[in-house]
Amino acid sequence: MNSPRSLLHGMVQELHLLRSEGVERLSVSAETLTALRERFAGSSTSADETPSPSASTRASGSSRGTAKQSSGVRGGDVPASPEPLAAPGRERRVVATSRAETGEAGAARATIPPPPTVSLRSESRAEQWEELRTEVRSCPVGSGQILPGKQLVFGNGPLDAPVFFCGEAPGAEEEMQGEPFVGPAGQLLNGMIRAMGLRREEVYIGNILHWRPPTGKAYGNRPPTDEEMAYGLPYLRAQVDLVRPRAVVALGGTAARGLLGLETKGRMGELRGSWHSLGEIPVMITYHPSYLLHHDSVRSKRKVWEDLLSVMETVSLPISEKQRNYFLSALGS
Ligand code: URA
Repeated sequence: MNSPRSLLHGMVQELHLLRSEGVERLSVSAETLTALRERFAGSSTSADETPSPSASTRASGSSRGTAKQSSGVRGGDVPASPEPLAAPGRERRVVATSRAETGEAGAARATIPPPPTVSLRSESRAEQWEELRTEVRSCPVGSGQILPGKQLVFGNGPLDAPVFFCGEAPGAEEEMQGEPFVGPAGQLLNGMIRAMGLRREEVYIGNILHWRPPTGKAYGNRPPTDEEMAYGLPYLRAQVDLVRPRAVVALGGTAARGLLGLETKGRMGELRGSWHSLGEIPVMITYHPSYLLHHDSVRSKRKVWEDLLSVMETVSLPISEKQRNYFLSALGS
């Protein structure tokens, strides 16, 4: 179990991370504050390392992309107390049960049983989708992997979506809201979808794994293991089979590996931009939006945009001159 000091360290990192994301104000219940005070009363952490009582914790980590930044703080570099996050502004819900509060982050890598067999009994596609969603949401394996108050995340979108975006696994925001891609990476994905001339409501978005991979720590993310992805894959495949999209976009090397069984380690540069297939359905591999959050260069964005243009062509979406030439002027070519 994590020591109070390391839990506190994680929590302070999270507070810094939230502030860097623009969160200026958090609300916290009186019970949570009391629990925090009790929890850390005996900690050897000095008072100036303790978060201000006017601040609070979400302590369950951030999205896949931004968590990497937070884990960049070296061990022992306990940040000074954040200024109170009290200015009026954007408010974020604080959950009462967090990893820091419970100290029960669970095993980082639990043993995962063999993949399930999905067989849907309902009549219509819509009913089958509901049946599948219910099965995933009540999946005992997934439920055993998440902390109290967090949710399993099933895909969403219309069953006649032309494009199916496939990520790897939910992050902190996603497990809180029970929706895929609603954190910072999701905001970027929304922008990519808009650039294609589509609305988010017009595409299907899912993940290989339907739970947030536990890290065993109070913060941070990790990619799903091969066993975890193998377990989630039948559910994802069932969604693809129900939607029957004209193209799937695998977001990042992990999703590509989970979806297509490819050995993608370190080879994203070669794999992206080319077409693969899942049965009859063409699959484009491109960079994960989290990658773009960290590699915010015209070059990376242009590569993703080229992949998306190729998807638009394949699914017969109209492409304007402006869309086709998005990055030409920026690169002077
Ligand atoms: N990253 C993913 O791969 N999926 C999500 O739902 C969110 C972030």
